[in-house]
Amino acid sequence: MKPFLPISSKLPVFWHGGDYNPEQWPKEFLVEDMRLMDLAGINVATVGVFDWVSMEPEEGFYTFEWLDEVMDTLHKHGKFAILATPSAAPPAWLSRKYPSTLRVGPDRVQQLHGNRVNYDWSSPIYREKTREIATVLAERYGNHPALLMWHVSNEYGGMSYSEASRQAFIQWLKNKFNDSLDALNAAYWTKFWGHTYTDWDQIQIPGPPYSETAVQGLTLDWNRFTTDEIVSFYMNESEPLRRITPNVPITTNLMGFYGGLNAWKMAPHVDVVAWDSYPQFSQEPMNERSWAKVAMVHDLYRSLKGGKPFLLMECTPSSSNWYPYMNLKTPGMHRLEGLQAVAHGSDSVMYFQWRQCRGGQEKFHGAVVGINQGEHSRIFQEVATVGTDLRYIEEIVGGFTKADVAIIYDWEVAWAIDGACGPVQKSKGYFDTCLDHYMPLWQAGISVDIVNADADLSGYKLVIAPMLYMLRPGVAERLSAFVEGGGTLVGTYFSGYVDENDLIFQNGFLGPLRDLFGITVEEIDARYPQQTVDVVIDYNELGLDGIFQANTFCERIHTTTAEVLAEYAGVWYSSEPAITLNRVGNGQAIYVASRNDAAFTSSLLHRLVIQLDIESATPFNLPEGVSATKRTTEKGEFLFILNTTVETHWLPLPGTYREVLNNQVISESLELGPYGVAVLSVDV
Ligand code: GLA
Repeated sequence: MKPFLPISSKLPVFWHGGDYNPEQWPKEFLVEDMRLMDLAGINVATVGVFDWVSMEPEEGFYTFEWLDEVMDTLHKHGKFAILATPSAAPPAWLSRKYPSTLRVGPDRVQQLHGNRVNYDWSSPIYREKTREIATVLAERYGNHPALLMWHVSNEYGGMSYSEASRQAFIQWLKNKFNDSLDALNAAYWTKFWGHTYTDWDQIQIPGPPYSETAVQGLTLDWNRFTTDEIVSFYMNESEPLRRITPNVPITTNLMGFYGGLNAWKMAPHVDVVAWDSYPQFSQEPMNERSWAKVAMVHDLYRSLKGGKPFLLMECTPSSSNWYPYMNLKTPGMHRLEGLQAVAHGSDSVMYFQWRQCRGGQEKFHGAVVGINQGEHSRIFQEVATVGTDLRYIEEIVGGFTKADVAIIYDWEVAWAIDGACGPVQKSKGYFDTCLDHYMPLWQAGISVDIVNADADLSGYKLVIAPMLYMLRPGVAERLSAFVEGGGTLVGTYFSGYVDENDLIFQNGFLGPLRDLFGITVEEIDARYPQQTVDVVIDYNELGLDGIFQANTFCERIHTTTAEVLAEYAGVWYSSEPAITLNRVGNGQAIYVASRNDAAFTSSLLHRLVIQLDIESATPFNLPEGVSATKRTTEKGEFLFILNTTVETHWLPLPGTYREVLNNQVISESLELGPYGVAVLSVDV
């Protein structure tokens, strides 16, 4: 792996900034904002998001003078603009004149104007209008010296149940099934409950409250279609930007593991991936698992473009206003959150929002500059600290992270699991199971890529594929090739149950993965969480030993070629295998047939880390709640150590390091205060 070029040669440092809405304020604030931005170390401002009506107050009549002034002022003060296309908030005149552009909700009722992201992305008129305004923006600002990047729309989300969308969906299905309704009926097993379609036009958009939910393959395809429709909406909107300004990078801000859009489908079409991170800082102190969860999402965004640095496009400087309860970030937490993003591969720390608005739905949302507050507020000072930090660590921009471990998290698998009626209705917990496997690695300072089931696995030593319920064609083959080539695969219960159309494999559970794991799966016992089963492991060559507890999912499996590592106890299927290991080619495939406790997962992964010689970022053990990652540039390796606890920790240092955050040389021991962060380089 090699270090990456900065996102833009115009600003080859960490980007520090955020959503900026000067149009909400009297003009004199603009100059004051520049002074404050200098104090906070801000170098970019995201402008134009939701500003369509300020740009085009009447159809075809443009008022860009205010934006010209903002762009010019930013430039004059040495700052850059991430300029948004405004499609996330249609102007009232547009909704009024073209009501068919408004979204139809799941209740099949067309929405009235209001709110945001309330448009129908299948509406031809809305597509035409968004392309038009993007063209005007590209022509007007394409050569502006302040223009750094395009920010297309904002947080694409939701679903659109309009007739235009239904027609587009039917066309999408015709393409998928080569115009054969018989193929669709067969793939969806529609004879069940008499759901056979005899005409394409009978197909309704699935979903509650009124429509089809029983044809699960259809629901899965509806999710796929929605992602494709969003991507095509994005492509339409960004086409003029690409054509008129081919050298200006383009992105759109995504939302973590948000279920409504498969980020893997969007990633190839943006120049850099970006996401908005809003963890709920409501536990005091925020617990380890919450920090690990944010780290895991960062790792996903780093993985989306093969390790290329991503952008933390938004986070709150203090608190969000839309959680049921939301503690303020306590002192130090903000810095930790910002540097955690950088540690996991972000080349920016950006906020929603720069200046707190006096009205509207987000008037209580955190902002860098509070109402009637300048540079002396606690929040401002914490943001300014991040600004200083980012300057100190500037040399790390473009740095990569090499991971030997990958966890497969797949959006389509998530949809299929969600859509399945059974084997449990609650606690299916696909995402949480992935996080359960991420946690012990995060705690040990081991870098992990989060990939989907289509990923090239050849560079990894260990691949963990929790609950890989649905297998698209080619996935089983890729997993087998990975193991044969010497890789170690950990698979779990509820894997390989259905094909890409949500049909159970004809050869039974595990389907095309049976030979790889060397087992068959006969049935799955879905147990109440408190109905635990013992999983007993006698010491084996992996070094695993002990009695662990399983709950919720326990499969009854039989070995064909695998050896048994553990058995169930205290249940009617006692003595049957619970964990197996199958050697295939040069590698091994481990199968965990039940949802086991955290102690087991941690123990298994630690043993594998030792066996496979997987390197931790740190040469020393990390105390609980302290994590570590590494980014590498041409200048060497940079070790980030992050204390997510409120305790002070002293870590032994095996050598002499440069603390990049203050350019001091340290040796022997490192003191990490509450929420403390260190960035160490061996190059002193
Ligand atoms: C999202 C949006 C922003 C703002 C923030 C804070 O990330 O993109 O416009 O609403 O949430 O709530």
